[in-house]
Parts: sequence; C-alpha cells; structure tokens
Amino acid sequence: MNKSASGSFNSHIFLIGFMGAGKSTVAQALAGLLQRPVVEMDESLVQIHQKSIPEIFAAYGEPYFRQQETQLIASLQNETPKLISCGGGVVMRQENLTLMKQMGTTVLLSASPATILERVKEDTNRPLLHNRKSIEGISELLEARLPHYQKAADLVVSVDNRTPQEIAAEIASLLERKEF
Ligand code: S3P
Repeated sequence: MNKSASGSFNSHIFLIGFMGAGKSTVAQALAGLLQRPVVEMDESLVQIHQKSIPEIFAAYGEPYFRQQETQLIASLQNETPKLISCGGGVVMRQENLTLMKQMGTTVLLSASPATILERVKEDTNRPLLHNRKSIEGISELLEARLPHYQKAADLVVSVDNRTPQEIAAEIASLLERKEF
C-alpha cells in the first residue's frame, strides 16, 4: 500500500541535506510547483526564540537546538501537507528520522564539498562551519553525516551545477512518478 492510501500520515515533504546544499532556495522553487506552503525550520526556530541561530547555539548549546528541531517536526504532525526545509543536522537524531518517515517523504539534496564551500564561504550564520571553511573541513563533516543522510532519504537529487528551478522540476517529477 502506498503511504497516502494508508491514511497514517499527512504527506509532508522534507528537504534534507548538508548546509549550503540549497534547501531553502529549492524549497521556494518547489513550493510554486507543488502549491504548498514552506516551513523553514531554522527561520521558525529563530522566530520562536527571537535569537539568531548562532545566538541560540551560544546561549543554550547544540543539544538544546536539536531538541527544539525535534519538537518543531513533531508539532507539524497534524498540519496540512507542507514543504519543510530542514536544518542540515536534523538527520543526526533517530527520533527525527522516525517522525519524518511517519509524516511523509524525505528528499535529499546531495552536494559536493566544492559546491558547499562555494555557497558557505562568506557565511557567518552557521556555528558548525566555523573553522571548517575548506574542502577538507567540509568533507570531514559531510562524510561523517553521509550515512545519516542516506538512511533518511526516500529520494536523492544531485544539486551540483544545477539551478534551483531545474532541481525543483526534477523533484516534482520524481514525486509525481513515485507512489509515496
Ligand atoms: C546545521 C545546519 C543549519 C542550522 C544549524 C545547524 C547543521 O541549517 O540548523 O546551523 O547541523 O547542519 P542549514 O542546513 O539550513 O544551514
């Protein structure tokens, strides 16, 4: 039975992937194609706390941030279908994976370290990339996380050298063809 026929979940779409993979930008392009609202997880947590991501990390620490991510995902369980642009570390908690599998479909945006570096090199809003703005630094964290991304992903889409519109169109077509 496909998931929608089971009636046991509400068919959210979760965009997952490493920092700088383009989840937020692709979410905007995909929202237009799928006609559904976007939940930007980082932005929601910033709104809730009235603090930037680095400020949340500095004030309460990473474990607290991870707990907040889990709460936010869980809070969407009874919502109408959304396109959820996840923080890059969401896959690091098994609880989140279980929730996401119950709640819908996860789409991994897969990016090379070079693509990631190009996109994050000027960024100061990602505490975990502090002192990692090199191919080596990014590759190390990416490799440690890859098994988690792969385990979480229902679909994988490569983003290297492609526009957000091209990526969104591929995701929309994959979602249409697959019976989730
Ligand atoms: C993080 C990714 C960030 C943000 C936080 C931690 C991570 O989100 O949630 O800085 O652990 O990968 P983006 O992937 O949107 O940059």
